[in-house]
Amino acid sequence: MNHETVEKNLGLMIVLIILTISGGFLVEVVPLFFLKSVNEPIEGLEPLAALELEGRDIYIREGCHVCHTQQIRPFRSETERYGHYSVAGEFVYDRPFLWGSKRTGPDLARVGGRYSDAWQRQHLYDPRSLVPESIMPAFPWLFEDLVNHNGTAAKLEGLQTLGVPYTDEQIANAATSVEGKFEIEALVAYLQQLGTIIPNKR
Ligand code: HEC
Repeated sequence: MNHETVEKNLGLMIVLIILTISGGFLVEVVPLFFLKSVNEPIEGLEPLAALELEGRDIYIREGCHVCHTQQIRPFRSETERYGHYSVAGEFVYDRPFLWGSKRTGPDLARVGGRYSDAWQRQHLYDPRSLVPESIMPAFPWLFEDLVNHNGTAAKLEGLQTLGVPYTDEQIANAATSVEGKFEIEALVAYLQQLGTIIPNKR
């Protein structure tokens, strides 16, 4: 079969393209499904507590991931600034993952514990009161609105179905553990645990 035959026969070309791409998928992607280092949680990884999970949803709702990545690449310029590079096993319970691709602000993969809760609250209330040159928006409504606890148990249950090891007890207690909390508490709880399993040797 020469090249001309393939180029002049659309059906054949499509079949050959599909074969080539599936070959690549088999070789490059399929092995990753079975590679422990990319799909097993790192030691000590726990699913997010109910309040932290609600904080994560607020993080998504407010579009924090549009300006902030959560992935430190293994380059010196990044590890010196942000700490240990990110490893796949840290993200196995993250659905959807929030690695992001745009850094208008700094990477937040290891921001947990870098500042006090009070700093985080003040910064979210009025970023320019702490970092005068900041272009980050203020989020004052997080201090007025309570976390909606009606869907919390269902969120944990959904994640459990996807393989996140929540216990039935955690699901049963989910709503009460977030009831009456302000959104800012949930968001700060989420931020303060980010990346803390791998010690931050900055
Ligand atoms: C328009 C882009 C933008 C959005 C949206 C945004 N940020 Fe930021 N963020 C920045 C910039 C720029 C900085 C650096 C200046 C500063 O510290 O305020 C920053 C800094 C931060 C820092 C300090 C990081 C460090 O290591 O010093 C945290 C924490 C943070 N943002 C959290 C958030 C959270 C949580 C949200 C969503 C509620 C959010 N940001 C939304 C742009 C943004």
